[in-house]
Amino acid sequence: MSLPAKKAANKGYEQRLKEVIPGGAHTYSRGSDQFPANAPQILSSGSGVYVKDSEGNEFLDFGMALRSVAIGYAEPSVNNSAIQQIMSGNNLTRASMIELEAAERLTSMIASAEMVKFTKNGSTAVSAAVKLARAYTGRKLVLRCSDHPFFSFDDWFIGSTVINRGIPDEISRMTITFPYNNTRALENILDEHGDDIACLVMEAATTEEPAASVFEQGKSYLNDVEYLCKKHNIVFILDEMITGFRWHKYGAQALYNIQPDLTTFGKAMANGFSVAAVAGKRDIMSLGSIDETGQERVFLLSTTHGAEMSGLGAFIATMDFYENHDVIDHLWSFGKKLKNLINCKALEHGLKENLIASGFDCSPSIVLKDREGNVSMPLRTLFMQEMLSRQVMMPWISIAYNHGDKELRHVDHALDQSLITLRKALDESIDKYLIGESVKPVFRKYN
Ligand SMILES: Cc1ncc(COP(=O)(O)O)c(C=O)c1O
Repeated sequence: MSLPAKKAANKGYEQRLKEVIPGGAHTYSRGSDQFPANAPQILSSGSGVYVKDSEGNEFLDFGMALRSVAIGYAEPSVNNSAIQQIMSGNNLTRASMIELEAAERLTSMIASAEMVKFTKNGSTAVSAAVKLARAYTGRKLVLRCSDHPFFSFDDWFIGSTVINRGIPDEISRMTITFPYNNTRALENILDEHGDDIACLVMEAATTEEPAASVFEQGKSYLNDVEYLCKKHNIVFILDEMITGFRWHKYGAQALYNIQPDLTTFGKAMANGFSVAAVAGKRDIMSLGSIDETGQERVFLLSTTHGAEMSGLGAFIATMDFYENHDVIDHLWSFGKKLKNLINCKALEHGLKENLIASGFDCSPSIVLKDREGNVSMPLRTLFMQEMLSRQVMMPWISIAYNHGDKELRHVDHALDQSLITLRKALDESIDKYLIGESVKPVFRKYN
């Protein structure tokens, strides 16, 4: 063994990761401050809805690679399609056949998408949409929803959060925010700033159903947003990174009957392969084209690996899988059962006020509250810790097609035991039962 390898072998994986990767992972939500002390420090493989750590310990996973896997890890039909593209060269000198097929597939599925550009990460897709909107309108301001946690790692978004170090004030000031589900508040913002706003960026929904429209019976808040954007000539950008292939197979926009100008997709669209996209109306998207003689150009997403063939092959196979199986129905029905199970167990253990599963059935959320009724990170940590010691990794709930009855029984059993500890901890002290530090919010200014 070489000296560096020997040195490395003597240290824990967490320490080694942190020594060579700032934050110890390539997404802050994978960091050690997001998991309890008994969580596996590193994972080696995933199959279906199970992941294995470096020692071969298996965990039932509800993280599902930050929601990017909605069928299951290593789904054979998806992998085979990706492998076929790898064997065909994986990245060629001009546009590839699979690139055309993927673009035609996406534009045929999503009603508002006449053109599409693929990329590797969601952040770059949303930032590309913002750039298009600024170019299209000639305006500078971005209006983004304050109740939705994340849109991009780029300055236009991060500059409007508490972690704005390294971002000039001038850039931060160009992003303003609006609250979800409040048409009147949005109306007021648009009356004041409407002429300066290039785009409005939001998700269709996260934990709350869209409220009723204040303008028209039978319509929703999302229809109001679409209407107000049109009224003020603002580009409506719908971020469907999470909702895209979970709420409905043709996007949450199909479920809620809205037509955004631009939509961004990513995460589950290729069952864990790195594919994201910005798609939308031709008159906006075509600002990035090369055909219109004399048109001033917009340098829209241009990346060496943006249309990597393996990812696009995975995307096509994922969409085929969705067509051939009731993936969406399963996500909604399994999520409903899981939510009911968690809430019933909480009730049985006298934790009705402390452990609450709520939100959309296809994307439930879990809230942990202390005795005073305040959302509690230490109690959340203890919940994750106890579930992990029963081989269930539940940092949040992301459902996949491969979650089934066997997994529900496993969760049932794990909850029964874990909630005994939670009850005791609430009666005595949470700290007494926590074996390490509490998890912390990703969006905090200081470490
Ligand atoms: C709604 C939303 N938009 C954009 C992104 C960024 O996607 P990516 O991590 O692929 O860059 C995320 C990631 O969590 C997201 O949840």
